[in-house]
Amino acid sequence: METERILLRPWRDDDAEALFKYASDPEVGPRAGWPPHKSVEESLEIIHTVFHNDTNWAIELKETGEAIGAIGYLPASESELPAREGEPLVGYWVGKPYWNQGICTEALEIMLEHIRKTTYIKSLISSHYFDNPASGKVMEKCGFVPTGETCIDEKLTGTTKPTRVMRLEIYR
Ligand SMILES: CC(C)(COP(=O)(O)OP(=O)(O)OC[C@H]1O[C@@H](n2cnc3c(N)ncnc32)[C@H](O)[C@@H]1OP(=O)(O)O)[C@@H](O)C(=O)NCCC(=O)NCCS
Repeated sequence: METERILLRPWRDDDAEALFKYASDPEVGPRAGWPPHKSVEESLEIIHTVFHNDTNWAIELKETGEAIGAIGYLPASESELPAREGEPLVGYWVGKPYWNQGICTEALEIMLEHIRKTTYIKSLISSHYFDNPASGKVMEKCGFVPTGETCIDEKLTGTTKPTRVMRLEIYR
């Protein structure tokens, strides 16, 4: 999946340093419910575990070849969201130096196109904290609509925060 400036591709071991550079920023992970990475070794471990599946991609900036973010989907049953049976949960982040340049919206748009073309998925769910409106904006720009509110106990960060639930119906 690609556009003129980004490529969505599987994570590789040699992305670990770039992953650590962007994911160690305390302004990134906690907004998505995970703690900042503490070492390159931990980032490599995340590549081997969390990112090691067919539905999680590195957002590569083509100009530099660097992985500057992540996007993907996973079974929503692994979350506390009020998901429909079998409905996947979408997640994403982008390194702070690249915020507000339309990169996440572009990545989500091409992932959604891939989902439409290659799967039978009928809808997707996601959510964002109320104090993270940029994420809600990304979803809105890609057609997600708010469906309610809930409170999530984030196991990885030990926080409990209200979140706005968003859903995209997929029409083919
Ligand atoms: C949320 C995130 C992925 C957005 O990535 P991005 O590449 O900057 O997103 P885009 O540039 O495509 O779109 C961001 C939109 O939010 C808007 N925005 C930014 N800050 C905002 C704010 N405080 N209030 C309202 N809108 C805001 C931008 O103006 C832009 O909208 P526009 O295109 O209409 O101007 C990025 O900020 C991030 O990685 N945050 C930390 C991790 C995270 O929050 N992940 C999602 C968890 S639900």
